[in-house]
Formats: sequence, C-alpha cells, structure tokens
Amino acid sequence: MRKKIKEIRSNEQLVGEAVTLKGWVRTVRHQKAFSFIEVNDGSTLSNMQVIADLSLRPQEITTGASIAVAGVVSKSPGAKQSVEIQAKEIEVIGACDPETYPLQKKRHSFEFLRTQAHLRPRTNTLGAIARVRNTLAFASHEFFQTRGFLHLHTPIITLSDCEGAGQLFQVSTLDPANRASDKRGLVDYSEDFFGKEAYLTVSGQLNAESYACALSDVYTFGPTFRAENSHTSRHLAEFWMIEPEMAFADIFDDMDLAESYLKTIFESVLKSCSEDLELFDRFVCKGVIERLQAIVEKPFLRLTYTEAVEQLQKSGKIFEFPLAWGCDLQSEHERYLTEELHNQPVIVYDYPAKIKSFYMRANDDGKTVAAMDVLVPGVGEIIGGSQREERLDILEAKMDAWDLDKQHYWWYLELRKFGSVPHAGFGAGFERLVQFVTGMENIRDISAFPRYPGHADF
Ligand code: 4AD
Ligand code: MG
Repeated sequence: MRKKIKEIRSNEQLVGEAVTLKGWVRTVRHQKAFSFIEVNDGSTLSNMQVIADLSLRPQEITTGASIAVAGVVSKSPGAKQSVEIQAKEIEVIGACDPETYPLQKKRHSFEFLRTQAHLRPRTNTLGAIARVRNTLAFASHEFFQTRGFLHLHTPIITLSDCEGAGQLFQVSTLDPANRASDKRGLVDYSEDFFGKEAYLTVSGQLNAESYACALSDVYTFGPTFRAENSHTSRHLAEFWMIEPEMAFADIFDDMDLAESYLKTIFESVLKSCSEDLELFDRFVCKGVIERLQAIVEKPFLRLTYTEAVEQLQKSGKIFEFPLAWGCDLQSEHERYLTEELHNQPVIVYDYPAKIKSFYMRANDDGKTVAAMDVLVPGVGEIIGGSQREERLDILEAKMDAWDLDKQHYWWYLELRKFGSVPHAGFGAGFERLVQFVTGMENIRDISAFPRYPGHADF
C-alpha cells in the first residue's frame, strides 16, 4: 500500500516493513554499486532517501520524474534522516526530460519561480508555504467553530461596493463592441445579465452582517477582489479574507476576538508546522519562529489613532508622507509604529471618520469612528475591522453626507430598522497572515497563482 513520507518518518513501527512510496524525484546521486534517489511527495518538507542498486537501473531516473518505489523501510546510517527505503522495485510513472525541466537543482529566485507557478509547488519553499497556508485555514475554522461561530458562504457577485473605494471589477455579459445605450448615452445595463451593473465582491461583510443580525456569531471565508493599481509586495487583485461578524458586540469585543484569533492560529502553526517554519527561519526570515512565539505569549499593544499619531510625530522620524491628525496612516507609518517603536503587534483604533468606510460606528466625539486595524511587523495592516453603525438615523445621515445611494443599500438599512443591534466584525487578509507567519518578502509568492496588475497567468 502507498505510504506518504510523513507517515513513514513518524511511524517507527514501519521499520522493517514493505511499503510503496510515490512521489517526484528531487535528486539522484550515483555511486559504484547503487544510487541515492531523493523523493518528495509533498506530505512533508523532508525527502525520503531511496537506495537503489544497479539492477533497478537507477541511471535512467532523472530529477522531476514521478516514480513508485516498492521497498523496505530501514534505519538510516546517515545523519540527515532516521529512515530510508531499500528499493526492491522502481517504476517510472512519468519521465522528465532533464534538459528542459525548468527546476534545476540550484536555488532559483522567487521572481523566476513566479514564471513557473505550475511547477513551483515542487520546491521546498513553495511547498512549505502551501502546508502553512493549509494549517492556518484549518486553524481558522477550528477557532471560530469552537467558539460557536457559524460558517457562512457570502456571494462573490455583488451589486454593492462594501468599502466604497471604487476598486471594483465589473461582471458583465454585454458585448463590449455592441452595447445598447440609454437616453443619456451611457451603457444600458438593463440589458445585462443581472439587469444592473454587477461586480466581484471586495468583502463579504454586508451580507455577513445580515446573518449576524439573526444568528449572532458568523464568519465568512472566501475570495475577494480589488481592482486597485497597487504594485506593492502586500497587495493582490484577488485574495482571500476571513470575516467574522458578532451581534451584541462592540469595538472592544472585536479587538479581543482579533487578538485571540491571531494568537490561536499562530500557536497551531508553531505546533503543526515546525519543520516548515525552521526552513523559513533559516533561509527566508531569520527569527521568524521567535517572533511568532513572542506574539502568542504577550498581549498586543492598543493605541488610539490619536495616540499613534502623537507617538509617530514625537519620534522625530522623517517620513516620505508627513503625518498630521486626520491623514490615513501610510504603510511607512504603520511599519514604523509596529517595527521600530514597539516591535510587536499594535492595534490602532478610533480612526478619523473621514478616512474610513461609511458603515463604521460614529464615536461620541463627533470626529472618530469605532474602527480598528491590527498592525504587525513586516507586513503592516493584517486585519481591518470595526463596530458597525447600528443607528438608522445616523447611518442615513452619513450616507447622505457621503453621497451614497440609500436606495441601493435599502436592505442594509432595514437591518437597522427591524431589531437593530450593536455589532462588530473584522476582515483578516489571509495571504497577509501566511506572509507574516512565513516571513516571505512578497505576497505574490503566497498566492498559488497570484493575480495583480498585468498578471493573471496560469
Ligand atoms: O481593511 P479592509 O479593506 O476591510 C474590509 O474589507 C472590511 N469590510 C472587513 C470587515 O470588517 N469584515 O480589508 C481587510 C484586510 C486588510 O486588513 C488586509 O489584511 C487585507 O484584507 N487586504 C488585502 N490583502 C491583499 N491584497 C489586497 N489588495 C488587500 N486589501 C486588503
Ligand atoms: Mg483596511
């Protein structure tokens, strides 16, 4: 029966047993009487060393080929591994031409590997990212499920811009070369598939609010899309977001939830992915394990926006974008705060109303809203959330002031009309979480097939 490398390595009872191993060849080294074949099947970072004598014709096996090895698990004399396989039979399932196989034994740059996104999961680092990502996803579900949150699937096609930032991808089946116009000469969307302008969602929040206002605690975990022309190492056009929403909760409950969520999922990765994390710690970002351990153990720092601005101004640091109360914090400010001033996660809350979204709850000072961002070293903003405005009159007045079409949000407003409750939630950018945990420099290496301006290959 086929056994995966992870099991063979962890189950001592298998020593002396016959097993079948299937995977892809990483390297082959030939000696006089036998060859060493390193096989990887993705179940773990480590390869399995296979010893094949010449009768099995190991000379014909090349890097990249997929093979099945039937053999006996034995204790390895080598220092690198505890067990190895003494092969009895080797079958080449899929041959691989060593001349044209793009993944040579040398180390490739991440930029090059992005052009080989279909093969790069066969490299150590990209395989490790996939396993860490998987663990974080599982731990996220576990975190919310054990706290009684209901998992919800919110729509991907939507008619409303949740963040109001206008960074929407349009969804249309109209023929661009032959579109009907309305009286004003604008495109007539009544002819379109949904009879209206439709978009890919930027966030599942508005729909999640509707369910929280019936089922108390819910979360959605899905793909979100932003047509922002950002060419940074932290922005994607398509990314995944985890969005919990709690009824009968305020901004402080929201911060508490965000903090315990991050600590819990980081703890899970420390426990389940130690081998992969060691790879990141050694080759990608020194100290990344210690950083995670420190975060799990220590309370996050919480600062109001006003306090954060004061600290940044007092620091004497010259920023590219000078800072004044009322300005949005730029990435350089966020990173200075969390990396230089505090070297730990910082939750900034009570932001100026003008720089945040329309749905955030107005504070009594008349200037700020109950919004919070969780900032972490290396990445900056990893979570954005808020208490939602539950008071119908205040929300309507704000939408008027912001020139938003109330008709369009009629159902959202009705949630405030019929049994409204204080409620709060947040969105955690999933790729940013994985980026933080692994210490990877660029978010384009976190998404398996990244989409960003000019790039939607594979
Ligand atoms: O701060 P954002 O825009 O918040 C919302 O969308 C809220 N509706 C969430 C909520 O309260 N339910 O986005 C949330 C998080 C950010 O903190 C960031 O981690 C991530 O999503 N994010 C991105 N990640 C990758 N690429 C992008 N272009 C991102 N934009 C936001
Ligand atoms: Mg944000």
